[in-house]
Amino acid sequence: MADAMGGARILVTGGAGFIGSNFVRLAAARWPEAHVEILDALTYAGNLRNLEDIDSKRLTFTHGDIRDPKAIAPIMSRGVTHVINFAAESMVDRSIDDPGSFIQTDTYGVYCLLEAARQGGIRRFIQISTDEVYGEIMAGEATEETTLLPRNPYAASKAGGDRMAYAYHATYGLPVVVTRCSNNYGPFQYPEKLIPLFVTNALEDQPLPVYGTGKNVRDWIHVSDHCDAIARLLEADGVDGETFNIGAGNELDVLKITATILERLGKPQTLIRHVEDRPGHDRRYAVDSGKLERKTGWRPRHSFEQGIAETIDWYAARRDWWEPIKAGEFRAYYEKMYGQRKAFAGGPS
Ligand code: NAD
Ligand code: DAU
Repeated sequence: MADAMGGARILVTGGAGFIGSNFVRLAAARWPEAHVEILDALTYAGNLRNLEDIDSKRLTFTHGDIRDPKAIAPIMSRGVTHVINFAAESMVDRSIDDPGSFIQTDTYGVYCLLEAARQGGIRRFIQISTDEVYGEIMAGEATEETTLLPRNPYAASKAGGDRMAYAYHATYGLPVVVTRCSNNYGPFQYPEKLIPLFVTNALEDQPLPVYGTGKNVRDWIHVSDHCDAIARLLEADGVDGETFNIGAGNELDVLKITATILERLGKPQTLIRHVEDRPGHDRRYAVDSGKLERKTGWRPRHSFEQGIAETIDWYAARRDWWEPIKAGEFRAYYEKMYGQRKAFAGGPS
């Protein structure tokens, strides 16, 4: 119901990141009368170029940190009605290297935003959590009632933010909704994550570093389907205090993703390298999205075949976007993570 967004002023934190920028694009098109405020610290993953094609006079960008009440207060004082918190440290491997920064942003930062929201009369606060909070799901699918068993520092920090958001609903009556989505893919994803890393490496004829056996399974959802689900939850009645899983049912392992990328780009299988596994590597994630579908009528619109083809083609066409990223901070990161990494002892399976 677009009426639910009448007079809306929407604060999108992390709006210069991958999913956040895709959401801002959707918001500008879906609610042209709404004003969108972006708060982003522009960490390595934040990029103002992700927003440059969005044609809206109703966008305000603030360079600031969700952990800084002085950065949040002036924005809230302009009459924010809705908050969507995308801001996070989001990369599992970085969390294994430096857990502290994840606790800072993904747990403490969520508390800072909730505190600010509690002072003003907001209509909805959506905390973007993740399916990783359930830990690995070896059979069946996690429902919203499944026990949280996060197994890496990123997932544990996100679980802290997820439950803190719920606590602000249960304790203070803040109109909070929590979402737990599966692995996103699509345009503007920082090329440290599996799909943009492998596509851009393949385009450069560089090796594709598959962790361990490559049999780890994720459920892949196109970012625009994720953003559509969030938009529906922003508009929905009767969802305060509720949690919603978001997944597309595209369960694929890393080897299958790798083969799809190489085939579309016409590159050889010899680019594949099986390297030492990620510590604590979750074998499978899977969520049941039935609650979201029943409540909002949402269904994913992209088949994986269509979505991945469009995505691969986007990176092939947008070297102007990713080449400067890979030439910057990314080089030191890549060398640290992959430079000395041993071959996987178990060998390809
Ligand atoms: P991303 O790493 O691409 O972007 C994160 C953004 O947050 C960047 O713009 C960054 O500058 C900003 N940011 C980081 N720390 C900040 C801080 N302290 N204050 C303000 N801004 C800060 O992440 P993404 O992949 O777009 O993920 C967005 C959200 O969705 C995250 O909360 C993530 O946990 C969640 N999520 C991601 C996926 C996925 O597959 N990518 C799936 C489920 C949930
Ligand atoms: O499930 C949702 C989560 O998905 C989000 O909450 C996270 O923010 C997001 O980063 C993502 O986490 P993953 O760890 O699943 O994504 P990543 O792209 O890092 O890895 C996907 C799979 O690919 C995983 O099994 C590890 C494997 N992988 C990844 C990289 C970067 C490799 O084999 N080689 C690699 O170089």
